[in-house]
Amino acid sequence: MNLCVLGAQWGDEGKGKIVDLLTPRFSIVARYQGGHNAGHTVYVRGQKFVLHLVPSGILHPGVTCVIGNGVVVDPHALFAELDDLARLGIDVNGRLLVSDKAHLILSYHRELELLAEARRGERRIGTTSRGIGPAYEDKIGRRGIRVGDLADQSADGPLVGAVRENVEARNRLIGNLDLEWTVVVADLRKVWTRLKPLVADVSLYLFDAMAEGRAVMFEGAQGTLLDIDHGTYPYVTSSNGTTGGVLTGLGIGPRAVDQVMGVAKAYTTRVGEGPLPTELHGAMGERLRETGQEYGASTGRPRRCGWYDAVAVRYAARVNGLDSLAITKLDVLDGLDELQVCTAYRCGNTVLRDMPGDVAQLAACEPVYESIAGWQESTKGVTTFSALPAAAQRYIRKLEETSGVPASIISTGSDREHTIIR
Ligand code: IMP
Repeated sequence: MNLCVLGAQWGDEGKGKIVDLLTPRFSIVARYQGGHNAGHTVYVRGQKFVLHLVPSGILHPGVTCVIGNGVVVDPHALFAELDDLARLGIDVNGRLLVSDKAHLILSYHRELELLAEARRGERRIGTTSRGIGPAYEDKIGRRGIRVGDLADQSADGPLVGAVRENVEARNRLIGNLDLEWTVVVADLRKVWTRLKPLVADVSLYLFDAMAEGRAVMFEGAQGTLLDIDHGTYPYVTSSNGTTGGVLTGLGIGPRAVDQVMGVAKAYTTRVGEGPLPTELHGAMGERLRETGQEYGASTGRPRRCGWYDAVAVRYAARVNGLDSLAITKLDVLDGLDELQVCTAYRCGNTVLRDMPGDVAQLAACEPVYESIAGWQESTKGVTTFSALPAAAQRYIRKLEETSGVPASIISTGSDREHTIIR
């Protein structure tokens, strides 16, 4: 069975832990979109690993990890991550593949992003400054540079011509001429030496692997509400983290995805700008942030925190065709007298049960809450549903009922072992 695991909220749902946990059931783990804006944290026996570009299955020997064409690759970020993994004793040799069709993030993409954010002023997106958006812009603008393009380094070849054009355009836009296209080309020569052994036709590799009966897990980055098409546009990332992205981001057919699992925190967080209907600004928001250690794994930025938003997760269930949920960080809610679950939005005199498409309308919405009793006992590290306090069981059932999807995994702590599998 091939499984897609993706974010059902605004990212940072704990996908890294869930992918790592499920990896022993799979032979291949494949990333299909995003880049090193992602920060997938995995704890193994108390040791913390943060993966950005490399799929979260890499910690398991024998599992092949694949970076698909839908991912944007900053080669230096990739090499830094591989160096970190090597220092931790994780051997990736022969089990990491990068699509020849993946687009590259180059130094000028990061600069262009900083410029674009500064120009937006109050309307800034709050991006991760990794060059993700500009790299996807170049891809859609048909001027991007792909991994496979690095193979032809000849002076009059298409790579050199494209770099030259892109750097000259960047110099015109930024208004200074401090970047030489020859410097970028020289850097890409070095990049190719190290990248070349990893490069593969990922679509063909997956097709053959699946024909041999090898099971694949598709790992989403960011979350449904950050999806370029289905998220809270324009406060989104520049790729499709939703299920549709799996097919285009890897070059596989729809029947290759057997099941889709959405990962959702037992509450809600968001980093960056844009509406978050259940956001808590006072002491309760602070309580969730501190107890949940809600600081960005990539950027260290404090995350905005709020109650569980069942409208958002129900929406994620619809646009992704979710079969199940993995609910994470239940233990963060331990010790609270009362919890709130947002089941609808009030927008003026209208009650909306479904996520509105218009971001201004969403920003004007108030959450409609259902209160539910909390629990005082610790759920940390609990491994069976029946061992959860009765109120925590009722809370999980409420999330299932309001989101319309059964929870097959409940995470009760950061370690692999701190998990209920139903
Ligand atoms: P970008 O992906 O860097 O362009 O950022 C666009 C928006 O997506 C910003 O609000 C970021 O904070 C958010 N974002 C990007 N990657 C992640 C992630 O991995 N987790 C949570 N938010 C993210």
